[in-house]
Amino acid sequence: MEQRKIKIAPSILSADFANMEREVKKVALAGADLLHCDVMDGMFVPNISFGFKMIEDLKKALTASLKTVPPLDVHLMIAEPERYVQRFVKAGADIVTFHIEACNSIAETLALIKSSGAKAGLVANPYTPLDGILPFLKDCDMVLLMSVQAGFGGQKFMPHVLEKARELKSIIDERGYDTDLEMDGGITLENAAEVKAAGANVIVAGSSVFGAKDWKEAISGLRKN
Ligand code: DX5
Ligand code: ZN
Repeated sequence: MEQRKIKIAPSILSADFANMEREVKKVALAGADLLHCDVMDGMFVPNISFGFKMIEDLKKALTASLKTVPPLDVHLMIAEPERYVQRFVKAGADIVTFHIEACNSIAETLALIKSSGAKAGLVANPYTPLDGILPFLKDCDMVLLMSVQAGFGGQKFMPHVLEKARELKSIIDERGYDTDLEMDGGITLENAAEVKAAGANVIVAGSSVFGAKDWKEAISGLRKN
């Protein structure tokens, strides 16, 4: 299998919320391939972040000032995501992913996202087996494997998910799909190489980009490392 392009997706959860417009422009110009937007409802996860309005206003601000706007990769950590996916697409999400643990109508919800005009994907927490994803793999543009329990930035990477990524990547290849494999949580310059070696081609990084002195260097380091 040919090596796919590595995409770096900084998570704006680690940005300065009081200066979000400045932060997203700066990280886009520093080389972000996607902007990872973590939506949390205080129900599915014990934390609350932001919703449609943030997505809508960021999309507007970026479109008004950048030649190339990185796609908004919206990671929904919300209960019953089927209730809200259309509103996120309407707000400007380019990719919408939701947790299989949170949804009882997975096929319908993937279809709803796509018919609304965005790419669609599934997410599994670190201890959720792959089995729940496999029947829907052909309908996913992307699968996101969490390498920390969803809910907070700045947690420690759980190495057992590397095996899960290898397994998923080999199934994707066997079936001849071109599904993106994203990994999210605790990814740093130190472990990025093994994350990519395990088959992930989309790398989410919150604290290791926004907490770095030089964001450009951090992004290119994660890409190359
Ligand atoms: C966790 C979020 C992650 C998180 C990543 O629930 O889904 O996207 O913000 O942050 P770091 O890279 O700091 O673990
Ligand atoms: Zn995330």
